[in-house]
Amino acid sequence: MKLSVIGVGYLGAVHAASMASLGFEVVGVDVDHAKLDALRAGKAPFYEPGFDELLAEVMPTGRLTWTDDYAAIADADVHFVCVGTPQRRGSHSADLRYVWAAVESMIPHLRPDSVVAGKSTVPVGTAAEIAERLGQSDGPVVVWNPEFLREGFAVADTLHPDRIVVGVPEGPDGLRAEQVMREVYAAQIAEGIPFLVTDRPTAELVKVAANAFLATKISFINAMAEVCEATGADVVTLADAIGHDARIGRKFLGAGVGFGGGCLPKDIRAFSARAGELGVDQALTFLRQVDDINSRRRDRAVETARELVGGSFRGRRVCVLGAAFKPDSDDVRDSPALDIAARIHNEGGEVVVHDPKALVNAESRFPALTYEPELAAALAGAEVVLVLTEWRDYRELDPLAVADVVAAPRILDGRNVLDAAAWQAAGWSFRGMGRAHG
Ligand code: UDX
Repeated sequence: MKLSVIGVGYLGAVHAASMASLGFEVVGVDVDHAKLDALRAGKAPFYEPGFDELLAEVMPTGRLTWTDDYAAIADADVHFVCVGTPQRRGSHSADLRYVWAAVESMIPHLRPDSVVAGKSTVPVGTAAEIAERLGQSDGPVVVWNPEFLREGFAVADTLHPDRIVVGVPEGPDGLRAEQVMREVYAAQIAEGIPFLVTDRPTAELVKVAANAFLATKISFINAMAEVCEATGADVVTLADAIGHDARIGRKFLGAGVGFGGGCLPKDIRAFSARAGELGVDQALTFLRQVDDINSRRRDRAVETARELVGGSFRGRRVCVLGAAFKPDSDDVRDSPALDIAARIHNEGGEVVVHDPKALVNAESRFPALTYEPELAAALAGAEVVLVLTEWRDYRELDPLAVADVVAAPRILDGRNVLDAAAWQAAGWSFRGMGRAHG
């Protein structure tokens, strides 16, 4: 069976290489030549642990090719649509221009007996619109097959996902497409990974519902952090205690500077916008609060750091540890760390940002900040240190050694990952997010 993957960003590039590693012949198509050139050379165009190794394994087999020529998809049996669906400028809804551009480019090359499998995160109803555009009767069958991969774990999440969801249309076409998708995912099914067949709107909704739930869980614990701050309670202990309840679970109860990235923020906004179009906006009003709680955490981090330096950032050297929206990623889209760094810079702080992988992307987004690739140099002379992305390098910092290089031992642990007692014992003024000690 031959597969095509349209859009070779995070999702598409990893999907293409993973499917090739399972033995399929795969062609990845994109209009971005920089990405294609990197992939052809066997290099990941983004930082993703394990992805370079996967490319090194599959590129020599000849089963995986990268091209900008849509004609190359003509003999594929399944076409995975993996293009981005960013937030529309000036609105909360999703911008589907790349989806439609991909569909239009595919049309001249699609065999009627092929299957188009959408993987991009889209507003519910998009699969049906695509099916309409492709022609209900003689066009290929459109199925929806959402992707749940996390950056930093993209390869493992693609090869061994928690579940596979495929939304198919009713009737014989749907049944045929389901069989094709079962062949595509035969290895995962054999592994015992749940394979759920649904209608198309349910499959589209599964993805946004999952992301909305995860965002809500994070904002829930961050709302508790606000209450902890007002009462002297400790949100980390609170999360541990409620997390022991198996119905709640400890995962995604990490209070701190909140969620960011290319998915959760824009997906909850697009989901609310779609609910509005469908006349059920009240059902998702709470997602606006989820977003608001999330942005208040960034305000709180700036306030706490300002307090630590005595009320004003003007002329103060501020060391920001972390630019990526989470560790093991070089992605700075809607990154809380970078947003906080930029706000402090705008208040007159002399901000120096360090990150093990994301500095190039951070600098292209906010060129005005100072970026320092050496951790020791970033810390040197700092009047306050902010840990805003929980990279291992930062979790393992030695408070005594760091105290020797900074100008003043003051630290904000924006991800609640440091041992407060050890830092305080080493003479640091230590603040967390929603923590009893400050
Ligand atoms: C997310 C979903 O997890 C994934 O299933 C979906 O396909 C895409 O969106 P990703 O954006 O890679 O994946 O990151 P994720 O690990 O979910 O983290 C999202 C954000 O939440 C990060 O900024 C992270 O720092 C933050 N987070 C996560 C918290 O603030 N607290 C937590 O407890 C967990």
